[in-house]
Amino acid sequence: MVRPEQQVLDLRTTPSSQLQSVAFNAVKNLPVHGSLLLLFAETPDWVMQSLNLCLRNNLAWTVAKMVDESWEVLVRRAEEVPPTDVIDVLKREHKRLDALFAQVIHLTDRGRLDDAAQVMREFVTGLRVHLDIEHGMLVAAIRTPPDVQGVNPSDALVQEHSEILHQSTLIELAFADPGSQVSTVSPLLAILAGYLSKHELREELVMLPIWKQALSRAPQAMQDALLARILKLLEYGKHE
Ligand SMILES: [Fe+2]
Ligand SMILES: [Fe+2]
Repeated sequence: MVRPEQQVLDLRTTPSSQLQSVAFNAVKNLPVHGSLLLLFAETPDWVMQSLNLCLRNNLAWTVAKMVDESWEVLVRRAEEVPPTDVIDVLKREHKRLDALFAQVIHLTDRGRLDDAAQVMREFVTGLRVHLDIEHGMLVAAIRTPPDVQGVNPSDALVQEHSEILHQSTLIELAFADPGSQVSTVSPLLAILAGYLSKHELREELVMLPIWKQALSRAPQAMQDALLARILKLLEYGKHE
């Protein structure tokens, strides 16, 4: 049942060749705390997945099949919907940490080194909690077999994390140096930016599917308890 104030886009008679672009134009600027109800004649799965990919996983939606065989999809911004599982939380944390680090680079580029140093501290605090979760709760509990080259992906992950922490410490020290300048900090930021994005990509492609599969085999009560523990550690909602 559609509420009178609900924004609705009826795509039931839109030709399938135009579905994607019409829906994209409607959802790309979803307002904060807004939602949009899309009506489809056919199953909306592929359209929604494709829209979500185009919008960098920023969409959350629920699907309902109507008695007349049409489909209703309620779309919201992903960050406004509570996390559904541990993997969802980790991905959101990657985005949040990336945004903080991008802010450090932006402030440094503008010569605002004190502000950049402050955001860098926030980034490192968040990073340490993130890594504690991945090491203490996931790597410690979920065994991973070596890949074809004989490298255990968990060991590779832990090594990459220590490298990220090491580079972060160097940047914090560079900011803390009374003679710090944009030209001394920027190259260190550029190195970590590259390393971090490669690491996150590898982690999302290799580790998250392994963890997701392992967690899905655990009893639901255990999955819920782990999610609650992680959300508490992250003080979830504090950053919103
Ligand atoms: Fe991670
Ligand atoms: Fe990581």
